[in-house]
Amino acid sequence: MADVGKDINLAVELLQQGEIVGIPTETVYGLAGNALNDDAVLKIFDIKQRPSFDPLIVHIKNAASMEELAHSVPQGAYSLADKLWPGPLTIILKKKDIVPDMVTSGLDTVGLRIPKHPMTLELLNALNFPLAAPSANPFGYISPTSAQHVDKAFGTRLKYILDGGPCSIGIESTVVSFTEEKAIVHRLGGMELSILESVLGYRPKQVLNKSSDPKAPGMLKSHYAPNTPFYLTDDLAASMADFSTKKLALISFKDAIDAKENNVNFVLSSMGDISEAAKNLFSIMRKADEQNADMILAEKVPEEGIGKAINDRLIRASTT
Ligand code: TXA
Ligand code: MG
Repeated sequence: MADVGKDINLAVELLQQGEIVGIPTETVYGLAGNALNDDAVLKIFDIKQRPSFDPLIVHIKNAASMEELAHSVPQGAYSLADKLWPGPLTIILKKKDIVPDMVTSGLDTVGLRIPKHPMTLELLNALNFPLAAPSANPFGYISPTSAQHVDKAFGTRLKYILDGGPCSIGIESTVVSFTEEKAIVHRLGGMELSILESVLGYRPKQVLNKSSDPKAPGMLKSHYAPNTPFYLTDDLAASMADFSTKKLALISFKDAIDAKENNVNFVLSSMGDISEAAKNLFSIMRKADEQNADMILAEKVPEEGIGKAINDRLIRASTT
């Protein structure tokens, strides 16, 4: 297992040596390395077993770094950066040559974000390079919201994981591009669309990524997928009755299900709070996956606030 702790200086040293370190953010944990160093970026792809055509987000410390890494930044992007960074928002912009092609999978654009986590901001401020970091889950599996999740998957491959506690938001950043005149949303996430709309003055168009590979949509294994067969249902109680001979792990939004003895029920937010549900989502999906159940049954959450982003994760996790 990796060392897990709060030693920011050690993380700085390792990153300066070109090593990969697990880092906390407000959304999910990341597998971070020097974004300007090809070898470090290659290590990230290798550890995560991520296909080389899927670009990495580059984490920066301030809006000035945006100017260093991107060109032709439109006013809308400046407004979002100014109002919503640090925060769960990734902005895709035309990249400058300084950003290695390896990071962007050969695209002429780069995704940038300032994460809102005090330890990672301190880390970024101590480094003189930005950090490339995908979510720290094996490709295709549920994203990590604690240092322990990262350790479980990559403990043998990492020297250090910076432990910043449980992620406060719990789902990945919202991804917005500015390669056309107006903003386009590519991934629903921790930043609500209504907030983007209020800053931009218009509702951005949505062109959501169906799979990680824009060239081969739907060809890849589903995302966020537990190992246990995972099904979404509109009516948990009825589905439970349909599978009465099975051992079930149930994931409900707000109300506990009167589960029979051999079943187990997880509730995303007993208060019915969408943000709390997002925060609990991935750790509950992982716990459900650890029950040795025959199947996991989950219900959708209301599509208010970031509810749509939660449902997007549930749909992608579903067994097809
Ligand atoms: O919240 C987050 O965004 C987390 C934390 C660690 O920051 N990171 C994250 O990274 O979710 P990852 O690699 O799991 O997802 C990044 C997404 C992918 O869907 C990728 O295709 C997209 O962002 N992306 C990155 N750069 C892009 C680019 N230049 N053009 C289009 N999509 C891009
Ligand atoms: Mg990911």
